[in-house]
Amino acid sequence: MVTESPRETGRKKAASWLTDNRVVRSIFRRGYPDNDLDRAAVMFSNFFLHVLPARTHVHSLKPTYTWGLGIISLFLFVILLGTGSLLMFFYVPSTERAYSDMKDLQFVVSYGVVLRNLHRWAAHAMVAVVFLHMCRVFYTASYKAPREFNWVIGVLLWGATLMMSFTGYLLPWDQLAYWAITVGSSIASYPPLVGEYIRTLMLGGDTVGQNALIRFYVMHVIVLPGIMMILMGVHFWRIRKDGGLSRPPAPPAEAAQGEAAAFSPHKTYMLVELAEGKTPMVDAQAPEEEVMSWPHTVFRMLVVFVGVVAVLSAVAYFFDAPLEELANPDHPPNPAKAPWYFLGLQEIVSYSALAGGVIVPAAAIIGLMTIPYIDRNPEGQGAWFTSAQGRRITLWSVVAVIPVVLVLTWLNEHYAVRILVPGASQIWVDLLNPGTILIALFAAGSLYTWRRTGSSRMGALALYSYFLTSYLIYTLIGLYFRGANWAWVWPWQATGLH
Ligand code: HEM
Repeated sequence: MVTESPRETGRKKAASWLTDNRVVRSIFRRGYPDNDLDRAAVMFSNFFLHVLPARTHVHSLKPTYTWGLGIISLFLFVILLGTGSLLMFFYVPSTERAYSDMKDLQFVVSYGVVLRNLHRWAAHAMVAVVFLHMCRVFYTASYKAPREFNWVIGVLLWGATLMMSFTGYLLPWDQLAYWAITVGSSIASYPPLVGEYIRTLMLGGDTVGQNALIRFYVMHVIVLPGIMMILMGVHFWRIRKDGGLSRPPAPPAEAAQGEAAAFSPHKTYMLVELAEGKTPMVDAQAPEEEVMSWPHTVFRMLVVFVGVVAVLSAVAYFFDAPLEELANPDHPPNPAKAPWYFLGLQEIVSYSALAGGVIVPAAAIIGLMTIPYIDRNPEGQGAWFTSAQGRRITLWSVVAVIPVVLVLTWLNEHYAVRILVPGASQIWVDLLNPGTILIALFAAGSLYTWRRTGSSRMGALALYSYFLTSYLIYTLIGLYFRGANWAWVWPWQATGLH
């Protein structure tokens, strides 16, 4: 018989004293879970944990599958809510007060600068991480049935994340804020018929002023966070209802076994066993493919949370959020640049306002929303890039787009419609510019890939990769290669970086 060491016995006693007492039981209902029944009960009986299943498929826990990006997005959101609430104690959304409140945070409030840094860097990180999460979901084909609608909820979350960041940009009321929002809101005014109306609704007038500040503030602290919380609630609930995270289908032998077990001639069935429909136990799986969520999933989440807080704190400690001089409507910086995630659009707007302000964003939104309904073949779910062929197509799509974008941009510089035909009407400029030509080329390239491979998934992989790469190139051009009057400059000469 194995005897316990005095140390082990002491540790157990201490754990039991800490967790198995009246107060802890009154909150958590039971002591530290040391058997599977209790581990499952922890998940059922805790308000925060019951969003997770009692058991998790091992595939979902592979760090290289999700890269933890969804959960990091959630943690960043929670950090933003916390730091944002604290910032609200020191900030008044008035054009007279806002900037001096920022200065007070910097020089008067204890740790005010760290608080502001944490909020600012978490916001930038969230835009980047949510975007990467969307890419992970796309490249693992996790938008396919039954997760189509959750993908659509995700696209709405992506839009809300961008709007959260955009509305927050104005609040410091410095030159950077003022002109980034002036440029951003003018992009929103380009759609014909409704554009001006959208801008007036957004700004509460024609220009960025007190009305705009209060509108952005209310959207930033109440409306958008509220919408995001509801959307996230639905997003997480749908993950459970859709059978957990996506994964490759079970091997045929197992599936067959599952089917045989499901309809045995030697068994009497209850009605509920025959009813159609999905439950959280979709695609019953072998028990050895699952682990208890407590502690496997919960502790991984905890580690990710600690990691996010640690990295963010280090960044906030060493790098200060920018604060330029007080907003001055009479002194636009040259160039005035939009927030970095809209710089790609601003670059296309510089070729044609209609292309950058309407055609490209509309194509991106419609494309993202409809992908799961066009690419319906269940092929490739749960595996990065679907197959070796998918990997090749993704790689070649990225590689092929780079010269195409650069050549088109160069051609536009020397042979744009207005250079060739100085009096050409605006419609020709709007129809023939790098933005619209690329969309036509992308559509053709993706349809060609679809027909050639006979797979809608391959067409989708090509299309997404074309868009992703070209937008990245235009963002880099806007960030590092555009100077005064939107003229070409070298990165070391570029201004207005944010
Ligand atoms: C605030 C933004 C978001 C948060 C907090 C969030 C959170 C999460 C979490 C925690 C997961 C499970 C773990 C993981 O996949 O990493 C998940 C899965 C998922 N997300 Fe998001 N998400 C967000 C935005 C998006 C966006 C922009 C999309 C796509 C357009 C999206 C689509 C999905 C889908 C389809 C799944 C299921 C994936 C699967 O089954 O493999 N989400 N999300």
